[in-house]
Amino acid sequence: MTKIEKIVLSYSGGLDTSIILKWLQEVYGCEVVTFTADLGQGEELEPARAKAEMSGVKDIRIVDLREEFVSDFVFPMLRANALYEGQYLLGSSIARPLIAKRLVGIAREVGADAIAHGATGKGNDQIRFELAINALDPSLKVIAPWRQWNIRSRTQLLEYAEKHHIPVPSDKRGEAPFSIDANLLHTSTEGKILENPAEVAPDHVYQRTVDPLDAPDAPEIITIGFEAGDPVSVNGKSMTPAALLSELNGLGGRHGVGRLDLVENRFIGMKSRGIYETPGGTILLAAHRGIESITLDRAAAHLKDEIMPRYAELIYNGFWFAPEREMLQALIDQSQAFVSGEVTVRLYKGSASVISRTSPWSLYSADLVTFEESAVAYDHRDAEGFIRLNGLRLKSWAARNGR
Ligand code: ARG
Repeated sequence: MTKIEKIVLSYSGGLDTSIILKWLQEVYGCEVVTFTADLGQGEELEPARAKAEMSGVKDIRIVDLREEFVSDFVFPMLRANALYEGQYLLGSSIARPLIAKRLVGIAREVGADAIAHGATGKGNDQIRFELAINALDPSLKVIAPWRQWNIRSRTQLLEYAEKHHIPVPSDKRGEAPFSIDANLLHTSTEGKILENPAEVAPDHVYQRTVDPLDAPDAPEIITIGFEAGDPVSVNGKSMTPAALLSELNGLGGRHGVGRLDLVENRFIGMKSRGIYETPGGTILLAAHRGIESITLDRAAAHLKDEIMPRYAELIYNGFWFAPEREMLQALIDQSQAFVSGEVTVRLYKGSASVISRTSPWSLYSADLVTFEESAVAYDHRDAEGFIRLNGLRLKSWAARNGR
């Protein structure tokens, strides 16, 4: 094994990363610095400090990344209306590059030569972490204990914990827990009964949304303000990016907005089934499309829609810090200069529907489109020629086919 001098570990304080911490100290016999990010997962982070201290960690980093997460990662992605495989709002995918960026920053600051993470060998997250680290600092080594150690199951993991006096919470002793990943954008739940896509997900997997069937009978109408493609206010109140997303999570959650039960194709090769809850993100996607509908030129809008699946796939596959993602981002960002105004959205039993939109930069012309008399110079006879020319080749084609 190559000699490692100092490791920065992505550490949540949970059972898995506590075991990884012990394992690293034992196997590499070097200093381990822990990094714990607050991405709005809604968990107390101070217990992580206490646990790291107990394991003899001297340098413990706990950083609030909520604003940076939403303003520099979630919002740029939202400008693209990004959805993976038509449905997934990429809540886990978009958090990884930020965590990797901070890990690299800390590694440089403390002079570490390796970064360790707790992602398993079967998932997308290992790819996302490591591609980002490669792109940000090619000299850093990566340690992925789940791919290296001999622990192959949950049971063996608990045995290792027992042997090394790592406290195991009582609910972790019996049945294995769901694999959950949460942040300000979403909660993702995988594993256990969900591994059978034929099984209906039990109600207790849902954490931040009510069942649409139990949502209030009265709809709630909200207004979202946009500036240059990014949401800036809710109901007329200006908010920071993280505060705004968190506000919409509350509103959407209460109305059962943003639940998704999905079988997706992992980059690593297998299909997996997960339950996603993305209340605020779902509202923002609808609202952003609403404001774009009046402010974007048709060809610009259609070009965005063409590149969107490609852009979403890059994020899903871990290529946030790659030249092609940055090129597509530049294209998307340029389209957003006039995407400003207000969108009204109705939240009702699981749906977030745009019901009105206004913009000082609107391209919409009632005069042009109206069924009534209008003063705008539009010669109906032009449409006749337009159709005749477009129909020309269809006539040749149909004649040849003998219709
Ligand atoms: N399948 C999702 C993705 O690749 C979520 C992965 C992390 N979620 C989890 N529950 N472990 O983006």
